[in-house]
Amino acid sequence: MSRKMKNKVVTNLKIERIAAEGKCVGHHDGKVVFVQNVAPGDVVDVRITKGKSSFMEGEAIKFHEFSSDRIEPFCSHFGTCGGCKWQHINYDLQKTYKRQQVVDQFTRIGKMDIPEVLPILGSSQTQYYRNKLDFTFSNNRWLTREEINSGESFERNALGFHIPKMFDKIVDIDHCYLQGNISNEVRNQLRVFALSEGLSFYDIRNQVGLLRNLIIRTTSTGESMVIVQFGEDNKEGIEKVMSFLHEQFPIITSLLYIINLKKNETFHDLEVLTYAGKAYIEEEMEGLKFRIGPKSFYQTNSDQAYELYKVAREFADLQGDEVVYDLYTGTGTIANFVAKKAKQVIGIEYVEAAIEDAKLNSQVNDIKNTLFYAGDMKDMLNDEFLSKHDRPDVIITDPPRAGMHEDVVNMLLKLEATKIVYVSCNPATQARDIAILAEKYQVDKIQPVDMFPQTYHVENVVLLTLKS
Ligand SMILES: C[S@@+](CC[C@H](N)C(=O)[O-])C[C@H]1O[C@@H](n2cnc3c(N)ncnc32)[C@H](O)[C@@H]1O
Repeated sequence: MSRKMKNKVVTNLKIERIAAEGKCVGHHDGKVVFVQNVAPGDVVDVRITKGKSSFMEGEAIKFHEFSSDRIEPFCSHFGTCGGCKWQHINYDLQKTYKRQQVVDQFTRIGKMDIPEVLPILGSSQTQYYRNKLDFTFSNNRWLTREEINSGESFERNALGFHIPKMFDKIVDIDHCYLQGNISNEVRNQLRVFALSEGLSFYDIRNQVGLLRNLIIRTTSTGESMVIVQFGEDNKEGIEKVMSFLHEQFPIITSLLYIINLKKNETFHDLEVLTYAGKAYIEEEMEGLKFRIGPKSFYQTNSDQAYELYKVAREFADLQGDEVVYDLYTGTGTIANFVAKKAKQVIGIEYVEAAIEDAKLNSQVNDIKNTLFYAGDMKDMLNDEFLSKHDRPDVIITDPPRAGMHEDVVNMLLKLEATKIVYVSCNPATQARDIAILAEKYQVDKIQPVDMFPQTYHVENVVLLTLKS
């Protein structure tokens, strides 16, 4: 970016609309200006942080007018934490903007002819809707401007969330509106206990410290899993923490821990040890039980997951004689959910532990027409696999945010299933993949589902049918 551009302040910029990834958009000198943390209708001065030939990015440094659509954010951490960036926008408008993002991605990026995007299915709960949160311990708590200016010294240990784009700064959370149940109590009491015992909070720069990470998972059936990651193999310290949680929260049904001496917090390759209770929790849907292990993905808004799966099932419209492939099956939730309406369901997923759970989930529910395989989709879904299995009549695919690997998309074109139901948490990559599939498929239905109120994220289900 040129020096001239860098110091530039655009004054009185009218924020017009919300674009992809929740960025707000205004126009200046014929260029698009993307601004974070504002709302359509605001008028702001913007300091430019990035300038390209066709667009600029910047941060609002002064508000001249506030949008009449703004509402008061309910969380004291709003603006710092980055978890629920849309609390200042009322829920009806959030839904409108989310649906619009889907329309934009398919028309502008996918450049496709699409049917009318259906009205978004809103979430009945707009707070306390998450069943999983991940907190980080740190000895480098984020200090507010007022704290820094006061010249006083403060407690620097923290347990909370990463500040956006700052890997080593953690905002200490005293109440989070995303997860109900025991979540706030467990986090806060564990913090108090750790401070009173003088246990060390993780120092991410120097990679030392006992307490590293805390994951809390809950279910609609009242079960809860708490996982503590330790950054040191200190038996005495670990016992102190785990026995505290066990005694203080007998309600925890799965109390687990991990000794993680690696450079990052991921634990798919580490042993998860059971301190008390079961090694998993169980969710329920339409009488089906779903076992969820510590390494397995489960949709984070359980109530909306049910709505989402109903849409996928309705779009698949199974008659009972179809072979269904459930790609990126996770713990086989969709596969088991649709199994009784299909001849056979084959689920593929790369986390082995999730596939073990998927098989167990079939067993527990007495479902006998499912098969599950672990492996990377692009390597699994090949000619050899197809020579050993029936070809799919219907494919349900639910990839991660990055979408499907090109080889997988090409394989879907080759397979020519009558229907593809594409579930995605990222309409941008979904539109990209569907633009390729459009060679043989037409888009019949598009149904956005809101799984994540107070954020710009939107889930989207698309029904594709093979062109005749
Ligand atoms: C959005 S989740 C969907 C899970 C499942 N359909 C559900 O609703 O619970 C995406 C899943 O894809 C898996 N995954 C990601 N990349 C993969 C790959 N390259 N090959 C196979 N599975 C993959 C993840 O482990 C995760 O379980």
